[in-house]
Amino acid sequence: MTAIRGRYPIADRNRCTLAMPSGWTSGQNLPIIPVSLILNPRKRKRLEMEDAFEVRLHRSGRTIPIPAGETILKTLLDAGVDVDFSCAMGGCGTCETRIVQGIPDHRDNYLSDEEKAQNDVIMICCSRSKSPVLVLDL
Ligand code: FES
Repeated sequence: MTAIRGRYPIADRNRCTLAMPSGWTSGQNLPIIPVSLILNPRKRKRLEMEDAFEVRLHRSGRTIPIPAGETILKTLLDAGVDVDFSCAMGGCGTCETRIVQGIPDHRDNYLSDEEKAQNDVIMICCSRSKSPVLVLDL
């Protein structure tokens, strides 16, 4: 059995064990699951509870529904909207987009906590919306 070292207490190791598929025995291939999802139940629950919302493009007037489990970036690209991006993982800042109205659910690693608190820009490659409609400067 793989030991988890570091700052996680024994209780979290038990939680990790519970996350293994039933019938699993050592030597079998396991699905790749990010450790952060296994060890962080709040993050796992947040991903499970994603809601759909709408993005309104302020300049063009278009309204585009963002389905649960889909990124704003991919949905906009699929809809033919020309947006810049690079890493698509919330780390580079290339997809930063100004928010005209709405409350973002910041999930990137690019903005500082202070910048996230201002709620005036969003990384559309990974962040979502806390409000039913997010109006973007696009
Ligand atoms: S594309 Fe890199 S942060 Fe969005």
